Amino acid sequence: MAFFRTISVTDLIPVIPGDGVVLRAPQMSDYAAWAELREQSRAFLTPWEPTWPQDELTRASFRRRLKRYSEDMRADLSYPFFLFEKEPQRLLGGLTLTNVRRGVAQTASLGYWIGEPFARCGRMTAGVRALIPFVFDALRLHRLEAACIPTNEASIRLLERTGFVREGRARQYLCINGLWQDHLLYARLRDDPISPPL
Ligand SMILES: CC(C)(COP(=O)(O)OP(=O)(O)OC[C@H]1O[C@@H](n2cnc3c(N)ncnc32)[C@H](O)[C@@H]1OP(=O)(O)O)[C@@H](O)C(=O)NCCC(=O)NCCS
Repeated sequence: MAFFRTISVTDLIPVIPGDGVVLRAPQMSDYAAWAELREQSRAFLTPWEPTWPQDELTRASFRRRLKRYSEDMRADLSYPFFLFEKEPQRLLGGLTLTNVRRGVAQTASLGYWIGEPFARCGRMTAGVRALIPFVFDALRLHRLEAACIPTNEASIRLLERTGFVREGRARQYLCINGLWQDHLLYARLRDDPISPPL
């Protein structure tokens, strides 16, 4: 009976179409494609991410991840998306809105990754552009923040291409790949202009 059904992440966030891409909530059926793409992209991703635990790519860990996503979403704390190519529909990467702060802040942080085989094809630019209306219109946030290591040229270009403005540098801001690393701080406000399409 629908009344007793557990609410899953797919019930709580919309499918968002973009330019050649689609964003939707992660589902258990994505596990095999996700684990394969993350394993294939391990060397490409790990310099820019928190250290992967030993069980990072296991089915049990993915299941726990979905449960956490679901709890966080219901609490209006974070909103996870997987990024798919529109045709043929295949997993490309992911974007996550985390650390949603309401009250006088109305702010969230944006994180993202793409599988190495799909990098540098404009896919994440399309993904971020598609997500922006959800952030400001659906969630009605005022500000979207992102941070990256100063040597992460791909991330810097992505943020500047999608209308984020550099606001400063935070010392030892996040523990990435096992080290506390300085980060460049970027943000987009509701009314900031989106730069021209690719
Ligand atoms: C950052 C990342 C998501 C970008 O995804 P992507 O799909 O390759 O991005 P796009 O193809 O949309 O490119 C966005 C811009 O970055 C540039 N770019 C992409 N890869 C680059 C690289 N390795 N070096 C320099 N510029 C790069 C593109 O040329 C484009 O800029 P342009 O429009 O001025 O030409 C991807 O590189 C990634 O997942 N990196 C590893 C994980 C990571 O860095 N996560 C973010 C931590 S802050």
